[in-house]
Amino acid sequence: MSHRPIGFIDSGMGGITTLSTALDILPHEDYIYLADFSSMPYGNKSKEYILARTIDNCYTLLNRGCKAIVVACNTATNVGISFLRDYNTFLSECIYVGLEPAVKPAIKSGAKKILVLVTEATAAQAKFDALIKDYSERLTIESSKTLAVEIEKAVGDRDKLDGIVRGIMKGKEDADAVVLGCTHYIYLKESFIRLYGNRYALFDGNEGAIKQLKRLLEAKDLLNPSEDNGVVSFIRK
Ligand code: DGL
Repeated sequence: MSHRPIGFIDSGMGGITTLSTALDILPHEDYIYLADFSSMPYGNKSKEYILARTIDNCYTLLNRGCKAIVVACNTATNVGISFLRDYNTFLSECIYVGLEPAVKPAIKSGAKKILVLVTEATAAQAKFDALIKDYSERLTIESSKTLAVEIEKAVGDRDKLDGIVRGIMKGKEDADAVVLGCTHYIYLKESFIRLYGNRYALFDGNEGAIKQLKRLLEAKDLLNPSEDNGVVSFIRK
């Protein structure tokens, strides 16, 4: 049992979608959400830059005593999760959970034409290549440097979010599934449903990641024993 908090990191507000899943599945935990606004977007940055920011952000959370860190960003996960796990002892003992574009669940669903939306920095990583390599004939990869910024600015504005979705799907209407492979893109979910109903099956990694977090906390006996709802604090970098 542990009262220590769980950290979340992202370049901005995308990881809030992951945090909100955590609040549903693990309501008694305390959370610290770190938004690395000064470096946003990660999508147009180098691997070295994103790795350096990810390590720095993890240090900030480790200094606050986090027992687990959720890298609530597909880009930072693709770049840095192996490093964080490999150097776990050095960085201090902590559970690391990452977000991966939900390609495997989309493939498993039987969808034939899957549009995978990711940042350009995610698409450039070997880890992403390994994820998609066996399914290339069923996948269309669409990567963007700055879509996350556009979405972050549009959050709360239905018309703008709908416009972004229409733009993405133009010429790709024959897809039967869409993978929202960046936590910011999950803000588009409602627009997809509003505009197209259930025409496209939508996949993201939030639930899988938080269920994995729960399994790991249980296995290490680190769940928060409190019966009250936890608190969320926010760090802005
Ligand atoms: N939210 C992030 C992701 O899941 C990164 C967005 C960005 O800063 O480009 O990939």
